[in-house]
Amino acid sequence: MQRENWASRLGFMLAAMGSAVGLGNIWRFSYVAGENGGGAFLLLYILSVLVIGIPLLLVEVSIGRKAQQDIVGSYQKLAPKKPWYMFGYLGVISAFLILSFYSVVAGWAIYYWWGYLTGALFNRPEGGYGAAFSTFTSQDYSPLLWHALFLGITMIIVLVGVKKGIEMANKVLMPILAIMMVALAVYSLTLPGAAEGMRFLFQPDWSVLENPSVYIAALGQAFFSLSLGVGTMMTYGSYLTKQHKLPSATAGIGIMDTLFAVISGIVIFPAVFAFGIEPSSGPPLVFITLPEIFHQMAFGGVIGFVFFTALSLASISSSISLLEVPVAYLMRAAKMKRRSASLLVGVVIFFSGAAVSLGMGRWSDVTIIGNNNIMDSMDFLASNLFLPIGGLTMALFVGWYFTKQQALDASDLTNTAIGPIWYTVIKYIAPLLILLIFLNAIGIV
Ligand code: PHE
Ligand code: NA
Repeated sequence: MQRENWASRLGFMLAAMGSAVGLGNIWRFSYVAGENGGGAFLLLYILSVLVIGIPLLLVEVSIGRKAQQDIVGSYQKLAPKKPWYMFGYLGVISAFLILSFYSVVAGWAIYYWWGYLTGALFNRPEGGYGAAFSTFTSQDYSPLLWHALFLGITMIIVLVGVKKGIEMANKVLMPILAIMMVALAVYSLTLPGAAEGMRFLFQPDWSVLENPSVYIAALGQAFFSLSLGVGTMMTYGSYLTKQHKLPSATAGIGIMDTLFAVISGIVIFPAVFAFGIEPSSGPPLVFITLPEIFHQMAFGGVIGFVFFTALSLASISSSISLLEVPVAYLMRAAKMKRRSASLLVGVVIFFSGAAVSLGMGRWSDVTIIGNNNIMDSMDFLASNLFLPIGGLTMALFVGWYFTKQQALDASDLTNTAIGPIWYTVIKYIAPLLILLIFLNAIGIV
């Protein structure tokens, strides 16, 4: 069977950007930054993106384009009978884990979108937006419905196929979301909490750096936000042909994604302080803060509606890229049709997502890793462990299994000035840094 391809380099760029920009930039970035003390975290996060994330993004896409396969198939094809492909399965597992909670959180976003569409969220509920949020998320059925709806839309787009479904969706979306975010940031800066919020976000409190978990949180956020280490970018790269140049494309994606995160911090933190919300509120943070902003604004109802439209759509372009990882794998390895593979994976994720959703209410005492509920445990495992391990594997694969010439050639860096720098980074620096952060987290260094 002929594999699918992007229509153009722009098609790939849009899809990869659509994958990167999503809940990770707005929802996850703000609560993780809030939990980890703000400024110092931001610095570590940006360093992780620049030194590790962007170079590895190029690695991941290059492997996919060279192999023209899903993540497991790529390793098997380029390193036949070698154990590298085992780490491909880790990517497939990561995609399952992430999509399970991603779909639940995106379900919350569509629920909010609905709330603005119907006007239900225009007025501050009695007890405030925070209480209303936890009342909603701790229910058994209602959040499940929104999760199912979101996952259903994702499945339909993925089962229609790469070209028709994924490529089109992003063209209008990124600009709208960008304009919304910048406009909201400008508005947030007029709030009475602006100065304090900006200080929190941009003025590092260095004492935070004594806590090893901050480094791993920053690394995990960089991987999550860049859609790195799962096999998403590898799979998307596999739909590219050799004539497309990769380095500028991947750097552009990384920078755009990071800008979205920083701008969303400028939206959220002034409001966090203006409305007296705890920066360390965790996953509910933006779902409490944003409605407060819209409540305060003139025409906030309309703006809230447009904002949650954009956020929901941005989540869809990310979730389809997550679903594409197991689907591409099953289509090749189990020779399944795109349609049946999407349906099968979708159904499994509906159930694991249901567990995540119940973990916010009925099963909130269920803790898996440390004191973390189901969602936070899955997130920790995937984002802070599996993704960096996946990225480390990719770096070692291209840095040590490929020859230098193969590595430069696969990434379109032959005879360029940055070629040797990139090669040193992916062969030595990035792997060492990831290892150091891991060892530090478990208390060895
Ligand atoms: N990068 C996406 C976001 O920021 C999430 C994602 C992670 C998508 C991993 C694909 C793979 O929302
Ligand atoms: Na992102």
